[in-house]
Amino acid sequence: MCGIVGYLGSQSAAPILIKGLHQLEYRGYDSAGIALNCESESSFQLFKAKGKVSNLESIIPDEVKMRDNMPVAGIGHTRWATHGEPSTANAHPHLSMSGEVVLVHNGIIENYKELKDQLIDRGYTFQSQTDTEVLCNLVDLYYQQNGKNLRLAVVQALNKAIGAYAIAVMEQKDNQHIVCARKASPLVIGISEGNDEFFIGSDATPMVEYTHKVIYLDDEQVADVRLGHEVEIVNLDQSLAEFDVKEVDLDITALTKGGFPHFMIKEIFDQPHCLENCMRGRVVRLDDGTYDIKLSALHNFKAKLIRARHVIIVACGTSWHAGLIGKQLIEEMCRIRVEVEYASEFRYRNPVIEKDDVVIAISQSGETADTLAAIQLAKEKGALVFGIVNGVGSSIARAADTGIYIHVGPEIGVASTKAFTGQVTVLTMLALALGHALGTISEEYFQQTCHELTQIPLKMEKVLQQNDAICLLSTPFTFARNFLYLGRGYNYPVALEGALKLKEISYIHAEGYPAAEMKHGPIALVDAEMPIVFLATHHELYQKIISNMQEVQSRKGRIIAVVTEGDQEISKIAQATIEIPATLNALVPLLSVLPMQMLAYHVAVKKGLNVDMPRNLAKSVTVE
Ligand code: AGP
Ligand code: GLU
Repeated sequence: MCGIVGYLGSQSAAPILIKGLHQLEYRGYDSAGIALNCESESSFQLFKAKGKVSNLESIIPDEVKMRDNMPVAGIGHTRWATHGEPSTANAHPHLSMSGEVVLVHNGIIENYKELKDQLIDRGYTFQSQTDTEVLCNLVDLYYQQNGKNLRLAVVQALNKAIGAYAIAVMEQKDNQHIVCARKASPLVIGISEGNDEFFIGSDATPMVEYTHKVIYLDDEQVADVRLGHEVEIVNLDQSLAEFDVKEVDLDITALTKGGFPHFMIKEIFDQPHCLENCMRGRVVRLDDGTYDIKLSALHNFKAKLIRARHVIIVACGTSWHAGLIGKQLIEEMCRIRVEVEYASEFRYRNPVIEKDDVVIAISQSGETADTLAAIQLAKEKGALVFGIVNGVGSSIARAADTGIYIHVGPEIGVASTKAFTGQVTVLTMLALALGHALGTISEEYFQQTCHELTQIPLKMEKVLQQNDAICLLSTPFTFARNFLYLGRGYNYPVALEGALKLKEISYIHAEGYPAAEMKHGPIALVDAEMPIVFLATHHELYQKIISNMQEVQSRKGRIIAVVTEGDQEISKIAQATIEIPATLNALVPLLSVLPMQMLAYHVAVKKGLNVDMPRNLAKSVTVE
């Protein structure tokens, strides 16, 4: 994890780098730094600070920020520590012992210890505990040996390094040159319209303001970026690599808070609009008033998908919860057996994958290392890999054989919200379209569900109107030490997601369970201190969930219940109720998850916590 930026051109580099780091701060934020290489200086200018990018910004002198009109190269980094505590010494960029090479790195060099020992034997000393400084000195070693050819030195070093990396490297002797490379961590190069400026980023967000022309580097590629020259890319065997310059399509307004105090609440409120975007051109109303679902991925791979006898969903975190809903949708509508696996487990356990199996990988970022590795394994075993991804052009999107973008726009808050509802919407469209093609659902069911799906954005607006009420009802629960979330059927994954949201941003211990499992253990925890969130919307298990509530009530547990509009019974038992509009059972999660998100948000805000960047987390988990 972590964010990397780079700039090569004649504008003042420091403000561009700092702004880019702010935009990438969601990827890591325990320390930050920049290195500048400009003509007027005889050595790199290095600035590093512990903590957020704003700390770094405050230590950069004005004359550095305002330097303009001379070629300058700069790289920057916002860190999510893997090796060595968050500190100024461990912050990137790392300078080589000779002072001639400086490097930023995202990822982990797994054999860093062995490489470090070899470098120590050659007289290298180290200032930090990081694996990154080892890589930097390894580049330096080859650089000194090969007559100071930076690209070659990077290639030589990466041939020795085992692990994952995205790196950007500068050499002191040339302030118009940056070399960058990637393996299993993303890296994008932006090229200005006039070909006279270059931008580097872990994703395209820092550069969309300046250019839409980008190159997505592939694994084990090393790019030579030099002012006045075309970008040149080589593979690790030094052969020239072919590449495309692509147009990136990112809306800059999606990167601002748009008047909301935090990205998370903005993204919660974005959901109705996001789902409209997600369904646009996919759930279509025909001239005769009936609905159809058009998914190009399904069209192109129809035969393979229809033949699938077994579907395996791989994902992590919130995306895994979306996968649990996907399982129910696909099994219910397509009668195909579905397993949902944590990508991190799947990748290491030699799973049974047969010919004609389909592996669905779900990921917001499209960069999650565990999910990417699970895809690689599935491909090796011959499965068709279907990606459900938000990050356009991301590693997972490119690694999948086919798939569907969720199209909900960049998600900045570390706690995933709109990506979850987008993923569930895509899974619903997929299950409906596949079930329709297979004939496992009736025409009437298909039509009714498509229609109801198009009504979800409107119904979401109604749930969002209760934001103030949810804020108010959250107050007595703000300082609870534990929470239990209970739901059944389609609401069980929502209970898991509600618990995860609360844990992530409010640091309150929370667990999600199928409601009926409560009596098999968790009920022992229930006392007057314990808030229990019940997802108790109308469906065939409604009466049973009321019985579970009564069990809690008789043990004095405090109940918050999410109910269907107009519910008369539950308000008699629960301390607080939140109503959601009635919808079809299979679509309930798209509405019932909203109160979960708002509740977690308000509790965290009341505790004075940083909801967009909770401690120890990062938005994109590109390490194992
Ligand atoms: C969600 O709130 C979490 N931050 C996290 O669990 C996340 O869903 C997980 O890391 C997977 O990320 P991805 O969807 O980008 O692959
Ligand atoms: N492994 C490196 C470190 O701990 C890079 C971590 C990151 O990706 O931020 O500094």
